[in-house]
Amino acid sequence: MSADGFASTPPPGARSDWTIEQDWQSYTPAEHQVWMTLHERQSKLLPGRACDAFLHGLDALDLHRGGIPDFSRINAELNRLTGWSVVAVPGLVPDEIFFEHLANRRFPAGRFIRTPEQLDYLQEPDIFHDVFGHVPMLTDPTFADYMAAYGEGGLRALGRGQLHNLARLYWYTVEFGLLESADGLRIYGAGIVSSHAESIFALDDPSPNRLGFNLERVMRTPYRIDDFQQVYFVVPSLQALLDATLQDFEALYGRLARQGDIPIAAIEPGDQVFTHGTQAYAVSRT
Ligand code: PHE
Ligand code: FE
Repeated sequence: MSADGFASTPPPGARSDWTIEQDWQSYTPAEHQVWMTLHERQSKLLPGRACDAFLHGLDALDLHRGGIPDFSRINAELNRLTGWSVVAVPGLVPDEIFFEHLANRRFPAGRFIRTPEQLDYLQEPDIFHDVFGHVPMLTDPTFADYMAAYGEGGLRALGRGQLHNLARLYWYTVEFGLLESADGLRIYGAGIVSSHAESIFALDDPSPNRLGFNLERVMRTPYRIDDFQQVYFVVPSLQALLDATLQDFEALYGRLARQGDIPIAAIEPGDQVFTHGTQAYAVSRT
């Protein structure tokens, strides 16, 4: 999502809001090929796994067209649909800059793409994660409102010193969220849809817990950044997610400051359990 720390000076060549030109003309054929390889693999896998809003977004933005998308092309349609646009940044940006962009319906995306050796894993979000993973959901009006509200909430949480709680909400929804549908669980999280292996693991593996989304519960649950998740949270609908976050978080932050964290793989008495995971995968990795 964004870099820790307080570095607020943009790198050389970036504007004061950390944006840069995408400079689409300068991508090499090899870089376009990496996008096409990743795109092809995911678009074969995701029907029946990703939620309808995501799949519709891929179509609406015509991300199937060959090669790395030109932001100016996708922004015309994205802007028309939900008022959002994608802006290029050099890499992770400071929290405050990130939230400021979201609150103004701009999604900061890395302009660089991973190398062919990094098809399955890289640490920093690249253009494939940011654009293929995040941008299709921004064509959905409800999710688009949620992301903008999150940006405003982020600025408030930052001022209140409670970003660690709010960051968990982002993680377990925007990055790793699952959605209930009439035909079973579906993915909407960008961290899942941009990963071939986790698109399978998140839905099919018996290891992770899959629990009903509960705002306070999610904000008390730590997450891991270095491996598949041990718990996924399922929202009944995108509207329910938006509705749950419309309340002022002030009272919630007060409670969270007094409550402890919930261990990552725990199942609590009030949890709605879709899967009581074996945690076999997580155990095998320790
Ligand atoms: N309602 C939240 C607040 O009062 C803002 C928010 C909205 C946070 C949506 C996250 C997602 O801070
Ligand atoms: Fe992301």
